[in-house]
Amino acid sequence: MLILSIESSCDETSLALLEGTIDPKLGFYKQVNQFKIVNSLISSQIDIHKQYGGVIPEIGARSHAEQIHILLKDLLSKVVDPQSNSFYLSQNEINYLSKLDYIFVTTEPGLVSALRVGREFAKTLQFFIHQLSGNFVEISSVNHLRGHIISSLYNMGEVVDDINIFPHLHLLVSGGNTQLILLRSPDDAEIIGQTLDDASGECFDKIGRMLGFSYPGGVWLAKTAGLEKYNKFDLPISMKGKPSFNFSYSGLKTACKYILQDPEIADFKFEERLSDLEVSDLVSNNIDNNTKLSFIRDFSISAQAVIVQQLVNQTKRAIKKYNPTTIGVSGGVSANSLLRKELGMVCGNLKLFKPHISLTGDNAVMIGLAGVSKLF
Ligand code: KG4
Repeated sequence: MLILSIESSCDETSLALLEGTIDPKLGFYKQVNQFKIVNSLISSQIDIHKQYGGVIPEIGARSHAEQIHILLKDLLSKVVDPQSNSFYLSQNEINYLSKLDYIFVTTEPGLVSALRVGREFAKTLQFFIHQLSGNFVEISSVNHLRGHIISSLYNMGEVVDDINIFPHLHLLVSGGNTQLILLRSPDDAEIIGQTLDDASGECFDKIGRMLGFSYPGGVWLAKTAGLEKYNKFDLPISMKGKPSFNFSYSGLKTACKYILQDPEIADFKFEERLSDLEVSDLVSNNIDNNTKLSFIRDFSISAQAVIVQQLVNQTKRAIKKYNPTTIGVSGGVSANSLLRKELGMVCGNLKLFKPHISLTGDNAVMIGLAGVSKLF
């Protein structure tokens, strides 16, 4: 079975080709891993959006529309016609496309104008493949969050032993979502907790921005903090002692703002962009006696520590209550080294599934896998 998958829900345009067979005898985990990546590409819009400090949906949608057909040509030429340097598809590439069994495309959740580009592209491809070859390729909609969850189970096509993963407790942490989900089976998912305000990635990014990092500030803040863990500024860890499994980051964000706006505490201009050299010194911990950079480093470590601690606290409590067989973590924030380490400790003997680093952010591989998982 040959699959083309399309992701365009936010600020990454991504396409992937996957190949595998559906075998009803296999369990869910092994079946997911039976699919191999033929090729996958991601075109990030970070350089476009960073000048505005965040994603501008209309500009993002235009960029998806400009990039998506270029990406298809690159995706196919690497597999079918590496010598081809034409802007257009070669006959071999068209023949290859006509062998597709399914096109899986993200249709929710995400930015409406961005999602529309992926959906329209899928329909246009379907139309032309039919015109040119008579083959009718089925299009199927995929939920982006299902994609993130499945990304954690995927072993990059390595052979794996089949294991029963259910009930599976999953922490989904991205730029737009923070949820704890209990999956009793592939199609029985209950959201047992979610953020009441910002997503954890959004909180990372907003605090990163306050410190002067460019978009997405969370990535630079995390690189600066590394695996260090202390809370020098006594930043609050929300939801402590609450009975629910929800998350909240607005209190932390406000606390950070007050501290950083106070000239007696933070002796630098709030939200003023850091230079590339300053960021590079922070990331490599080359700060010597620079008081501004020392402050930013301590603040990054403290902010990361409390964001991660809240995620870990709620996951720990959910493990106790729901007694899952396996745990998973996914989404952009699942790339965070401290979170991976701390969750590993909380899981003890329970297996913790983490996506390959290349699959933590938005990507079409996970959309293809989530699409095929609807077929078994
Ligand atoms: O999953 P994703 O690519 O997009 C959404 O679907 O939302 O997640 C992007 C988010 C951004 O907020 C980014 O700052 C955050 O993931 N992120 C990180 C790290 N890498 C990416 N946050 C903390 N630590 C990281 N290492």
